[in-house]
Amino acid sequence: MDPNIPNHVAVIMDGNGRWARKRALPRHAGHRSGAGAVRKIVEIAAEHGVRYLTLFAFSSENWNRPREEVSKLMGLFIESLQREIDELHRNNVRLEFIGSRDLLQPKLLDKIIAAETRTSDNTGLRLQVAVAYGGRWDIVQAARRLAGRVADGDIAAQDIDDTAFAAELELAEVPDPDLLIRTGGEQRISNFLLWNLAYAELWFCDTLWPDFGQKEFTEALAFYARRERRYGHTGDQAEAVS
Ligand code: FPP
Repeated sequence: MDPNIPNHVAVIMDGNGRWARKRALPRHAGHRSGAGAVRKIVEIAAEHGVRYLTLFAFSSENWNRPREEVSKLMGLFIESLQREIDELHRNNVRLEFIGSRDLLQPKLLDKIIAAETRTSDNTGLRLQVAVAYGGRWDIVQAARRLAGRVADGDIAAQDIDDTAFAAELELAEVPDPDLLIRTGGEQRISNFLLWNLAYAELWFCDTLWPDFGQKEFTEALAFYARRERRYGHTGDQAEAVS
């Protein structure tokens, strides 16, 4: 494994609305164009040897957007899944969704389950799409499950450590992200993967998501390759183990 290439890249895809506004188009046109950028990044990440890619498509808080925007976004997820699933499968991509499924339309949920089942044995890029996801929700769910196991006498409270906790999170089977990319100019995490991003390198760019492509991804990789990852150790210690 090339240490200069992040094993897991997480992306906050921001700026669709502004991309549309700059062109005097409805916000939805920005989301549509953003779906094109999703297609590109999946290809580009796989080409560069990234093994895991996690995309923030819809946050728990996004339910509060105008009803029409939410409904069109859900429609776009359904349509994109329908259109892309054959090619993703052909390219050996394993597709999974993370987030709360409670409020998803049955039609979207059916497509999600079908896509996950169909690609579950694929061994190429692992693509996680976060829909109705929030980092705090994820942590609360994990805490609730652990509390349930303690109440059932399955484990003792003292057995709860980092590893036991991480095993209850949505990305339990996936190593932590090495690199977080956020487009659209804001420099915050916005309730994405709060636990898992603990040691991620953070890269922000002003490019609006629909314009994100090879050039920006290569810049993010170059930034990552320059970082010294210390995980709390001194620089000398980190060098000794690498
Ligand atoms: C943030 O931009 C983007 C979203 C809330 C939606 C992300 C959705 C896509 C990229 C489309 C398709 C996704 C998949 C997985 C097929 P914003 O609307 O907050 O932009 P703004 O900050 O400029 O208003």
